[in-house]
Amino acid sequence: MLDAESMPVEVVASGGALGAEIRGVDLAAGWDEALAAALRRALQGHMVLFARDQNLDEPAQVHLTKIFGEPVEHVRRQPDRPLKEIFLISNIRRDGEPIGALGHGTIPFHSDLSYMERPGTVSVLYAVEVPSAGGGTQWCNCHAAYEALDEDTRQRLHGLEAVHRHPVPEQNPPEPVQHPVVRLHPADGRRSLYVSPHLTSHIVGLSEAESRRLLKDLYAHMEEPRFVWTHAWRPGDLVVWDNRPTMHRRLAFDPVERRLMKRTQVFNAERPLAG
Ligand code: SIN
Repeated sequence: MLDAESMPVEVVASGGALGAEIRGVDLAAGWDEALAAALRRALQGHMVLFARDQNLDEPAQVHLTKIFGEPVEHVRRQPDRPLKEIFLISNIRRDGEPIGALGHGTIPFHSDLSYMERPGTVSVLYAVEVPSAGGGTQWCNCHAAYEALDEDTRQRLHGLEAVHRHPVPEQNPPEPVQHPVVRLHPADGRRSLYVSPHLTSHIVGLSEAESRRLLKDLYAHMEEPRFVWTHAWRPGDLVVWDNRPTMHRRLAFDPVERRLMKRTQVFNAERPLAG
């Protein structure tokens, strides 16, 4: 265990529901095992990490992502994408065609790739261009939201599974996947709610009305300000988050402004564990 003096980075908690700033590190300069271990430990504790004023090219972002696991190679075609591990999120158009995904509107709360049998674990997002207002990203601490539930609700949720589907049909696997509503983190055994308004379609074994009501109540609880932290982006920001105990949403911005982000994503070899 490193003491504060030998920590290769300064970790400053956001003071909000989750999140911490990493200071005193140039992430483009590469990493050694001491830095990697410090970042993994900080991520486990804070669920979301951000570093300002980073100057990362694509190979450096892919290399950095490897601290947390093997980066996914994306299959979706993006002509401006320099490396197959980099996925562009942008509203910018070239010759009338968007160069990246997700446009300018609000993307409701979700945990990345939860519609896959083996969803992503850690996501990394690097800001190249950001709008002058709006376009922030909010994360929900789904572990704290679970812990704050009353005992009856926790008992009711244990053993339940939910179906996850992407709203764009072609992005889904052929068979809908089910995941536990309460998910256990394999590294620390902490439990988190694992449902989201964007990607969860229904809870298995409940009537449609019951499932809708339960999910509505859970989302209202999870989206309470005490569980949510907002990141206001600046160019050069790098944010890393763990999708297992969190969900996130991108806020809308004026479509005449430009936003360009580069995302890398760690592929998960395991299925979510029931809590
Ligand atoms: C996402 O939903 O993964 C994108 C987040 C963002 O663009 O801020």
